[in-house]
Amino acid sequence: MIKIAPSILSADFSCLGEEIKKVEAAGADWVHIDVMDGQFVPNLTFGAPVVSKIRKVTKLFFDCHLMVNNPENYINDFVKAGADLITVHAEATLHLHRLVQQIKEAGLKAGVSLNPGTPLGSIEEILPFVDLVLIMSVNPGFGGQAFIPTCLDKIKRLKAMQQNLNLAFDIQVDGGITEQNAQQVTAAGANVLVAGSAIYNSADMVKTIKVLKAEK
Ligand code: DX5
Ligand code: ZN
Repeated sequence: MIKIAPSILSADFSCLGEEIKKVEAAGADWVHIDVMDGQFVPNLTFGAPVVSKIRKVTKLFFDCHLMVNNPENYINDFVKAGADLITVHAEATLHLHRLVQQIKEAGLKAGVSLNPGTPLGSIEEILPFVDLVLIMSVNPGFGGQAFIPTCLDKIKRLKAMQQNLNLAFDIQVDGGITEQNAQQVTAAGANVLVAGSAIYNSADMVKTIKVLKAEK
């Protein structure tokens, strides 16, 4: 089954709680929470205090995507704030294995993400330890960018690696997902789709989420 994780980056922050309830009512499976530090990516968003506030408005699974350098410094804050999954970038830490253990020892699910320019080979050794791999299909930092088509082949190659190793991690894709390309992305092997602008700019969120999930 395909899971849809609306990114609150495209929500109206003046009423963030309501914006989350809206996607929950429309059929969202997870809430995708984009944390940016202005260093790892050229943009800033928010940190753990905002996550602990929105934790009070929904029981949906909190998928925290940390686009920050040295994410090891922030794991405890996000654990306390109520994250369910923390995804870190392989490019953002020197000690990926230790970091994944740190997240799992805190009782959370651990994900690892790759920028479009980073090869799959860089995460080969960590695959047996993660719950999710996030393939970025735009350069992270901003919502509303166009999907980079070569990422489809990267998703297919990750799926093949997963099958060869007999592993069961989720394959998530983030960036430029639309009603038009979602089926190609899931056919390539993804089972969790992040969508920011496609959902929050939609006039009919229920329909958009159904189309993204390829449900009738
Ligand atoms: C990009 C973020 C994404 C972004 C997706 O840096 O990680 O989650 O919000 O937005 P769309 O779906 O608009 O490309
Ligand atoms: Zn994201």
